[in-house]
Amino acid sequence: MDTHDSPAPVLVATDVTKAYESTIALAGASLSVSAGESLAIMGASGSGKTTLLHCLAAVIPPDSGSIRMSVPGAQPVELAGLDEEARSQLRRTRCGFVFQEGLLLPELSALENVALPLMLTGHPRPEAERAAAPWLRSLGLAGMEDRRIGQLSGGQAQRVAIARAQVTGAPVVFADEPTGALDSATSSDVMDALLYATSGQGRSLVLVTHDAAVAARCDRTLHMRDGRIVREKVAR
Ligand SMILES: Nc1ncnc2c1ncn2[C@@H]1O[C@H](COP(=O)(O)OP(=O)(O)O)[C@@H](O)[C@H]1O
Ligand SMILES: [Mg+2]
Repeated sequence: MDTHDSPAPVLVATDVTKAYESTIALAGASLSVSAGESLAIMGASGSGKTTLLHCLAAVIPPDSGSIRMSVPGAQPVELAGLDEEARSQLRRTRCGFVFQEGLLLPELSALENVALPLMLTGHPRPEAERAAAPWLRSLGLAGMEDRRIGQLSGGQAQRVAIARAQVTGAPVVFADEPTGALDSATSSDVMDALLYATSGQGRSLVLVTHDAAVAARCDRTLHMRDGRIVREKVAR
C-alpha cells in the first residue's frame, strides 16, 4: 500500500510533444493530475492548451513522450501509441467532455442528450434515461428534462453538458473553455456545477480557461507558453 497522503495520480504526462506539419503545438509538456483534483490550464491563445487537453483525453496521439492514465479498478494504460480504436474505447469509458459550446444535439431533449453516452455504450434507452435524470436534477434542471437545447439558457445548456460528461461515471472530465461563452455570474454558477459533478464526487477535472476567476476555483493552475508548462500556482 502507498503510505503517502497525496492521492494516486490519474494522469501522468511526461515530455509530450505534438506538431502539426511545421507548427510545434507541444514542445515537451509534463504534468500530473491526482484523483479528485481540479486542475486549470491557462495560457495565451496558441500556447498549446487544447492540444495538450486532447492528448491527455486520448482524442489525438502525441508524437512522443508518455501519457499514463491510471483509473480505479483498471490496469494503467499508456496512451502514446494506442490506435484510434483503442483511444475511442478509452474515451467512451473513462473520459467526460465539456466544451465551450456544449456540443449538445439540438434536436434532442435535455434528458436525451444526457442519456446518449450510455446508449452509445449499449444501454437500452429507458435504463439510460433513468440514469440520466438524477444528474439533471442534481444540477438544478428538474422540470427541464423535455426541453430542447434551444429552449435553455447558455448556463442551463452548459449544465446539461456537465450532466452528460458525468453520466457514464467517467473518472476524468476534460473541459475546454467551458465558461468561454458565458457572463461572469453564469460562469460562476456553471463552475459550481462542474466542480460539484467532478471533484465533489472524487473525479478529476482538467479545465482549460482564459479566465483567472475560473482558474482560481480549481485546486491548482498550470500556465503554458509555446507548448510548454512554464509555471505552476497551487491554490489556497
Ligand atoms: N489541427 C491543427 N492543424 C494545424 N495546426 C494546429 C491544429 N491545432 C492546433 N494547431 C496549432 O497548434 C498551436 C497550438 O494550438 P492550440 O493547442 O489550439 O492552442 P490553444 O488552445 O492554447 O489556443 C497553434 O499554433 C495552432 O495554430
Ligand atoms: Mg484552445
